[in-house]
Amino acid sequence: MELSPKLIKEINELADACPNKKGALLPVLYLVQKEYGFLSESILKDIAFILNIPEVFVFGVTTFYTMFHTSEQAKNIISVCTNITCSLLGSEHIIKTLENILKIKPGEMTKDKKFSLNLVECLGSCGTAPVMMVNGDLHENLTEEKIKRILDTYK
Ligand code: FES
Repeated sequence: MELSPKLIKEINELADACPNKKGALLPVLYLVQKEYGFLSESILKDIAFILNIPEVFVFGVTTFYTMFHTSEQAKNIISVCTNITCSLLGSEHIIKTLENILKIKPGEMTKDKKFSLNLVECLGSCGTAPVMMVNGDLHENLTEEKIKRILDTYK
């Protein structure tokens, strides 16, 4: 078991607070990711075992939601929306700009582990497209110039 005894205790407390163990899965994933930074395969197996739910269910939920990461992420996690409105208003150019500045492709992180670049579905801010999130902060009406300024604030 890769999870610490303290974390196992907290997971069981969350599970006990829910009417069924599947209902505890999202808060448990948040809790464990906060502790480890990402959710490795072995950690997901541990969670499935503790909650006594199928591994395939835990893997399915984890990979469905873009806020959960199954690989190591950098200090600053950039999530660029690629859904229809952002796409029509230039998300492709936003991604190219980020790739050029950071010298990485989507799904990668910079060598200094300062930035990870991820592509996600609608961030719920279509009216201010194109948008991206950095560590949960929403950045709207993106332009090339704006991106450079935004990244500087996260270094
Ligand atoms: S399509 Fe990008 S925020 Fe909705």
